[in-house]
Amino acid sequence: MAVSRQIIIDTDPGQDDAFALLLAWAAPEELEILGITTVAGNVTVDKTTHNALRLRDLAGAATPILRGCSRPLVNELVTAEYVHGDSGLDGPDLPDPRSSVESMHAVDFLVQTLRAATEPITVCVLGPMTNLAMALIMAPDIVAGIDQFVIMGGSFRAGGNVTPAAEFNVFVDPHAVHVVLTSGVPLVVMPLDVTHQAQAVPHRVSSLRELDTPVGKALIEMLEFVERHDITHGFEGFPLHDPTVIAYLLEPELFELRPGRISVVLDSGPDHGRTVGSWRSDDDTAANGEVAFGIDADRYFELLAERLATF
Ligand code: RIB
Ligand code: CA
Repeated sequence: MAVSRQIIIDTDPGQDDAFALLLAWAAPEELEILGITTVAGNVTVDKTTHNALRLRDLAGAATPILRGCSRPLVNELVTAEYVHGDSGLDGPDLPDPRSSVESMHAVDFLVQTLRAATEPITVCVLGPMTNLAMALIMAPDIVAGIDQFVIMGGSFRAGGNVTPAAEFNVFVDPHAVHVVLTSGVPLVVMPLDVTHQAQAVPHRVSSLRELDTPVGKALIEMLEFVERHDITHGFEGFPLHDPTVIAYLLEPELFELRPGRISVVLDSGPDHGRTVGSWRSDDDTAANGEVAFGIDADRYFELLAERLATF
């Protein structure tokens, strides 16, 4: 059962980020979204920010949106228009935003908000972790204001989706991932191992298709665009990666988690950006997080349909 909590969502919309954001906006009883911070990832930060603003209008929300980092800490930016389209949110024809971002930079917002936290805040991570790493480097004391990082990223036994070894969010900025993994903040990780079990196949999407609303129609159009890449690569449907983070906050019992010590490979070889887990039970004291390896995928899509029907 979910409890009410304050959250910040760091994101690079992205169609699956859109599903996650709308699911969060559809859960006001459980989630108080203090802010949405955008980052370069699926597309440039100008485009991810533009997309976050358009999604806020679609949801009829008023959450502050803060523009974040435009490139990784060390590596050159790698984007994914080949999956998400040139806009990063191809599919529906969403209008230009009716309002703009806050003037504050996302990293300053993270530092200021986490320092002022009256209760520990859950930070939801849906894209490359550049903003979070910058905030942790600028102000290590902010860890006191963070309840946990809930992260979509990494892959342990499922292979990579950018290289054979690396998942996209980690691959774009593995140095930022290292800063987050070594911050001492408790982690819950949704890797490809679990998101690949949550493919948007027809029987799971049927209830979403019946939503005769602007939100429902837009999300179906996003799905019909973004699934093309994965289907040509052998998937039955688009693995709905990012909403697993929000679904975990609403119904944690959907997931099977395993404690472990998670690290990331930073060398320059073919393993660059690989996430590595140590699962030895006698090493639990050294665990820095819990990783999801199982999901009730049908219930996950039911949750999405139920909540998204409230718009
Ligand atoms: O590997 C999947 C992740 O990369 C998701 O967050 C998707 O939006 C892309 O950012
Ligand atoms: Ca994302």
